[in-house]
Order: sequence, then C-alpha cells, then structure tokens
Amino acid sequence: MGRLRVGARTSRDGRSRTPGSGSGLLRERSESPSRCVQTTKAVLLRLRTYRFHIILALVAVLGVAWLFWPSHSASPRQQPVGVRGAGSTQWSAGARRGAEAAGMPVRRGGIGAAGAEASAAAGSAGAYAAKVTHDLRSLAEQGLQAIISSRAGPTRDQLVDIMAKVPPKHHTMRFQVCNGFANQRLSVVYGVLLAHRLGRSPVLPVLMRDGIQRDDKTVTAQGSNKVAFEEVYDLKYFLHEMAKAGIRVLEPHEAPLPSAYTEVLLGSLGANVSGALNTSYSHVQHLAVDCPLFKMSPPELDGRQDEPIIWSVLDAMRPADKPWEYVEEMQHAILQLGGLNGKPAAKYNFLHLRMENDWVEHCKRWTSIPDGVVRDNCYNGTEDIDVQLRLFAFSTDVPLYVATFWDDVDPERAKKVMGRLVEAGYRVVTSNDVFPPAMKTEGRELRALVEYNVGFGANRFIGNSVSTFAALALLERRHRGQWAAYYNGGNLPIAPYLPVHKMAWVFTYNSWSAKYDYMLKAAVRSAAHINTLKPYCIFDGNTSSPIGRWLVDNNVTMIRHVPTWRQELIKKAQARMKDNLQHSHLYKNPDMLVSTFQRVDLPVVPILDQYTYVLYTDADVYFRRPINLDDFGLPLPRSVSMSYEFYKMFPYNAGIIMANLPTMRRNYKAFLSMMLDNDDGLYYPNYGPADQGIINKFYEHDLRSQMLNQAFNTKPYNDFDGASFLIHYHGPKPHEYLSFLETGKCDFYSVCEQGFLRSLCQYAREWAVYIPEESVATRLADSCAWLTNPTIMAVFQKKTGLVAQNQAVPDDKKQEFTQQKRRQLLALAAEEARQRAAVTATA
Ligand SMILES: *[C@@H]1O[C@H](CO)[C@@H](O)[C@H](O)[C@H]1NC(C)=O
Ligand SMILES: *[C@@H]1O[C@H](CO)[C@@H](O)[C@H](O)[C@H]1NC(C)=O
Ligand SMILES: *[C@@H]1O[C@H](CO)[C@@H](O)[C@H](O)[C@H]1NC(C)=O
Ligand SMILES: *[C@@H]1O[C@H](CO)[C@@H](O)[C@H](O)[C@H]1NC(C)=O
Ligand SMILES: *[C@@H]1O[C@H](CO)[C@@H](O)[C@H](O)[C@H]1NC(C)=O
Repeated sequence: MGRLRVGARTSRDGRSRTPGSGSGLLRERSESPSRCVQTTKAVLLRLRTYRFHIILALVAVLGVAWLFWPSHSASPRQQPVGVRGAGSTQWSAGARRGAEAAGMPVRRGGIGAAGAEASAAAGSAGAYAAKVTHDLRSLAEQGLQAIISSRAGPTRDQLVDIMAKVPPKHHTMRFQVCNGFANQRLSVVYGVLLAHRLGRSPVLPVLMRDGIQRDDKTVTAQGSNKVAFEEVYDLKYFLHEMAKAGIRVLEPHEAPLPSAYTEVLLGSLGANVSGALNTSYSHVQHLAVDCPLFKMSPPELDGRQDEPIIWSVLDAMRPADKPWEYVEEMQHAILQLGGLNGKPAAKYNFLHLRMENDWVEHCKRWTSIPDGVVRDNCYNGTEDIDVQLRLFAFSTDVPLYVATFWDDVDPERAKKVMGRLVEAGYRVVTSNDVFPPAMKTEGRELRALVEYNVGFGANRFIGNSVSTFAALALLERRHRGQWAAYYNGGNLPIAPYLPVHKMAWVFTYNSWSAKYDYMLKAAVRSAAHINTLKPYCIFDGNTSSPIGRWLVDNNVTMIRHVPTWRQELIKKAQARMKDNLQHSHLYKNPDMLVSTFQRVDLPVVPILDQYTYVLYTDADVYFRRPINLDDFGLPLPRSVSMSYEFYKMFPYNAGIIMANLPTMRRNYKAFLSMMLDNDDGLYYPNYGPADQGIINKFYEHDLRSQMLNQAFNTKPYNDFDGASFLIHYHGPKPHEYLSFLETGKCDFYSVCEQGFLRSLCQYAREWAVYIPEESVATRLADSCAWLTNPTIMAVFQKKTGLVAQNQAVPDDKKQEFTQQKRRQLLALAAEEARQRAAVTATA
C-alpha cells in the first residue's frame, strides 16, 4: 500500500440544526409597525449578547475560505505543513499539545492536506469541494458548531402548515416518563417509537422536576413534581420536527381525556412489548402505558427501521428559551473563567464525572448482579481521571468543565480527585463557579438539561459509559460529528437498547492499488448494509483519484496521517531486504511496508482518539451481520485481539484487529522502541514478518490469553460458518481464485483448491451482491454456480480425487496436491471456462 501523510479530517454525519427559514427573531416579530423599534432594539441586544459567537463564526468562515484559497493548494505529494484553516489550527495545536502532554511523539502537519488537495481537483466539481468544506466544518473535534448553531425555529404558519399535512391518527397512546433527566429524555424517545410502531399518535408526556432515584424503583411525575414539556423543551420546534418526520405528536389538550384511556403495564407483556400490544390491544382506541424506558428488549429493536425515528426525536428535543439562555450564560462564564491573562478562552472541554455517593452505591449493586453478565467498568478510571484524560489527549491548555452533582460527593473523594486534576495542570471550572444565580432555584432535572447542553458546546466531551447521561450525550455528540469519549473502559451497556450506536471501523488504503478497489467497495458497501459501523479510512495518495472520491461519496471519513517513524522504518527494512523477501513481498517496496505498518499508529491518529475500541480490518473483507461492541464477548480485550492465520497456532493474523486504543496509547512508546530495535530488517524471529510480527511479539501475552473469535476473521478456505460476522479473503483474493481456475496457478499451495471445496462459493455469492458491476464478482459467482452443482461437483471430486475434510484450517502436508491432480483440476476448470465463454458469446 503506501506512503503515509499527516493530519486528519472530516466527519460526515454532523447534522446542522434547523436550516429553516424562520428565525427565533422573526418568530417574535409582529405585523404592527409600532413594534418595529422594539424589534430592532432586541436585535441589537441579541447581537451584543452573541458578539462572541459571531466573532467565532466569522473566524471559522474566514478560516475555511483561507483554506480553500487556490494559492494555498499544495501539491498532494508535498508535505502539507502549515496549510490549515483557522477553525482547525487550534484544534491541531491542542491535539499536539495534548499528545505532548501524554508523552507521545507529535506528528507534523495538519488538517489542510486533504482539503487543499481536494480543492485542487475540484475546480470542475464545485459540489465536491462544497462537500469537503462541509466535512471540514463538521470536523469531529469542535464545539463551535453547537455554539454558533442558530436558534431558528418554525414560524407559527410553518407549524400550522406541516400539522395539516400530518393529521392525528384514529388511535392514540399516552406514556409516562421516569427518573432523572437523561432517563426522561430517553423515555420520550421510546414512547414516540412505540406509538409509531403501533400506528398510534403519541400524546406529549408531562415531565418531572426532580427524578432522583433513591433506590432501584422508577420515579414518575406526581403532583407538584410535574413540569410541562414546554418549560423544558422548545415545544413548537419539537412538534414541527416530529411532523417533518411524519409523526403527529398530540398536545395533551388535543388528546381525548385521560378517562378515555385503557391502561396497560408494559412490564406485564413479556419480552416482545410492541408485538404483544399490537396483537392483544389493537382494538383499544386509546392506550395509556407506564414509563417505556428500556421496556422494549434489544431483539425487538431494529437499527435500520428504528434509527430514523430515534434520531428524529432526539434531534427535536432542544432546550426551551429559558434553559437555553442559561446554557449560553454558562458557556460564556466558562470561557471567561477558563481564559488566561484577561482574555477569554476560545473553547472548553467537558468532563462528566460520576463520583457521587449514589454512584458508588450504584456501582456496588450493579457489578454484583448475579446474572452471569460481565459488568467490569462502572467505577473504573474515576480516581485516576487525570491519567485517563491524558490518554484521551485532553490538553491542559483548554479549560475543563467538571460536571458532577457536588451536593452528593464525599468531600474526601472530591478533594482527592480534583487535587489530581489541578496537579496535572488542568484549569478546572465547576457548576459552583458558573451556574447562573437564577438557576439555583430551578429543579434538578432542568439544571441537568442545561449541563447536558453545555456538554454539546464543548470541544471534547468525556464521561462514564455506564451513566445514562454520559452514554446518551456521547451518542448524540458523535451523531453530530462531535468528539466524545468515555473514561471507564469496557463497553457501553446502553448500546443494545439504542440500536443507533456505531462502532468505529478503520481500514487503510491508497490511490495506487486500483486492482484491489473492487474488494474495498464490497467491504464499504457491506458495512453500510449492516448499518452498525462508522467507517474511517487512513488514506494515502490522491484523494481526488476515483477511489478517493468514491470513498468520500460513500460516507467514509478520510484520515491523512504520516507516521513519525517512517524514515527510520525504511532504513531498518533496507538492512536485510534480500533475505527478507522470502518472508514477504512487502520488503520489496518501502511504501508498501510503511503502509502495512500503519496500523500500529491506530492509537495516535487524532480523529480516532475518541474511541476506546476500534475494529481494524484489511480491505479484503466483507461484513455479513450487524456487529456491535458486545458481540466481541465480555470482558472486551485489554489490548489487542486477533485470530488464527492459516493454522490453529500462534502467531496470529493482523488482518483483523480488535484494538483497545487507550491501552495501545499507553504502550505506544515502548511498542515503537521494540519495533525499531530490530536488526533483522523488520523480520521478527518466531513472530513473523513486519507489522504482524511486532504486534504478535509485543502483545503476545494478551493475544494468547484472549483470541479473537474466528467469526470475525472467517476464511473462505475453511468450512462454511453461517454465524460469521466478517469474511476475510485471507491468502488468495477473489481474482486469484478465478485465475487459479483459468491458469491453474495458486500462490498459496492448496489453499485455492480448499476454497472451492469448502466455503468460498457460498460466501462469494453473498459477496458478489455488493459489487454487481465488477466482472470479478460475477465471474466468480458464475463459476461457483457451475461448480456447486452437486452432479458436477461429484464428477469434479472424483476426477481430481479431492475431498473436503472436516478440519477448520488446511494442513499443508496432508492436503498438498500432486502435480497430476492439480493438472486434472485445471483441465476441468479450463473446460468450464471455455464452456462459459461460449455461452456468454452466444447470449
Ligand atoms: C402492528 O400492526 C400494524 C397494523 O396491524 C402493522 O402495520 C405493524 O407493522 C405492526 N407492528 C408491529 C411492531 O408488530
Ligand atoms: C414481536 O411480535 C410481532 C407480532 O406478533 C412479530 O411480528 C415480531 O416478529 C415479534 N418480534 C420479536 C423480536 O419476536
Ligand atoms: C475495572 O477495574 C477492575 C478492578 O480493578 C478490573 O478488574 C477490571 O478489569 C477493570 N475493567 C476495565 C474495563 O478495565
Ligand atoms: C489526482 O487525481 C485526479 C483524478 O484522477 C487527477 O486529475 C489529478 O491530476 C491527480 N493529482 C495528482 C497530483 O496526481
Ligand atoms: C451518505 O450519507 C447520506 C446522509 O446520511 C445518505 O443520504 C446517503 O445515502 C449516504 N450515501 C451512501 C452511498 O451510503
């Protein structure tokens, strides 16, 4: 593969909020001219209030403009040092300082490379440039977007119009919400989702001022604890956005009286709640259910079908005007207080630190539930949070807002943890410093809503993945293309209940391996099909090349990265190149060598530094089933996990790696020194060649103790595995299998034969569906159709004397074919090819 270069960029799923026509100001405006002066005053006042945001917005716009100014367009082959947008300069600088702080080598260059390159080629294709510009704006690591996002909302007319288009349904459903802020927010999601599934119009629920749970019982709204939806969320906006998604939400006064409702307890319905409601209660016109939080079981939820609804509801719930003002006041205060030398800071980071007494108790209970499920990450990372922040590259130059419910924190614990943060150099700001005085009298959950939204404005966000608040914020931030991480390791327990979580999938590629493009396309399309992965490509070469554009068009986030160790690696490799060529063809070509080693830099690629786990794969794979983090089995790997190569033995295959990035980051320096401390020209005796050799050597203990399940690295020369998640064309590639049929040559001894005798054909048929335009795929599928005909296969086996054996991996010695058998097979295959050519020619 190839040369590596600097920087990082682009996230494609940042949705901008409300590009609607009406604005918050317009909404207030009256027809009467006497109000005009007032309105102008209001506008001026707003401008003053927002002056800071406006300046930021201008800086960002100028930055992007500068970035795309043609004179800056560096040749893609040059080092793009210094080509950066203002919006990203600080980001790079921050990441750089963060990396330095974490004791990591700092990479040169910046974010501009891909942008400049893309713009150079985009003269003809303005749309393409606009797309990349959009990517830059929605860069993963930025809070600006949230800060400058407008508060434009629908006008009354727009609301009336859209409501007319989505009339209420004949059947309706009321539901309750429960517990604290994040649980209430999720209750709304589940309530609307359930109603939608049942073909009913949901009725807007009443929310709760204080949902604190004193034990494991759910808390629901009673008496004075009730608070109207519109005091918390922007009601008009919510109704409008939901109607836009085709869901008419009824305000309580539009719905039938509560007495018209039949009440059902969801807990009484078994595992398939929506199914049971649909069958047993379809005749009930008005249905009232209790709090739907986590009542639908994971198998009942369906990522593809439910995802649009889930996002519509979450995106539609933005704070009402008053809490929004609190959010802005707090952001302003954090920046002021976090600034230096009288100048306000330009951004802040956000830490949601669950260390309250109720959390300590919760973790004790939670980790000891005796149901066999591994729960190993509830309190981890809390008391050494400073170490975690470094592993996630939190710069000490950026003020750190620490959110926790201080009233309930043990003072000793607070002193210890905060002491460590301050000692580590963080400028810490807390709610005690920046809560607006008026907010002190607000309910607990409204304060949580405000902090939640302050979290959206942050540059980086980190929390505890076991906390619903943090897990939901993380999900929503990533959905908007913003950086978000968790410090407690392990998994995200909420993920199975919210089938919208995407796992990071990383591969490396370049613009000069066109003959492999077909495999990459199948990989990317199959990933899009299973819909649980967020694809990242560490790309080398020309992003305007056909494959570069194809990747961008297929929503792959492109990353540019040059390893610091590039030159040294090449020097080391040249030492014994001739000897090593027998081990791997990689040693022939420095670009290829560096390219394959690139996976060792997974822990230091900036945009990936928000992930605890990423799935790395080579490009010669395709996905068969949705993959979620928990599918890898709990506990998740402590460092890296890989599976067999051809044989059931160590060392393992580095083509698929389940990688724990914080651990790899902690080990990065030691890893590099072992990697480069090698006088065998980067061959690692006992561990094998190149990157695979060193990964096996450094992580031998962990690799041996927890092997990656073969279902994540299934090879088509083994027996068919219907449960496999991921097929890896390890060894021969599809075009090589084909050419084996046509020419009789296989570079992998008996592996080509084994493929045809075992599972290759079953997988190839599934795989070919993703790339119908590729002749390799159709030809392979055709050959397979011919070969897997039982009669022909019997003749085939008889003639060649080949029998598929029931062993998981081929054993060279037993399966070595005689030249004679090989020739027979080839003759047969050649015959097949001739026949098919004849058929094609006459068709
Ligand atoms: C519920 O029933 C309606 C109509 O009978 C049907 O369209 C819908 O798919 C069903 N939903 C579920 C979750 O079974
Ligand atoms: C739930 O029940 C409905 C209707 O009975 C059915 O269509 C659906 O497949 C069931 N879902 C699960 C996960 O069992
Ligand atoms: C959390 O800490 C416990 C106790 O030290 C440890 O056994 C467990 O492996 C840790 N979990 C993770 C995910 O690191
Ligand atoms: C990059 O690829 C595009 C499209 O193939 C081509 O027009 C352009 O010249 C290439 N740039 C370089 C530097 O090779
Ligand atoms: C890319 O993402 C956009 C927005 O989510 C979507 O509309 C489009 O279909 C996706 N394109 C592909 C090729 O998947």
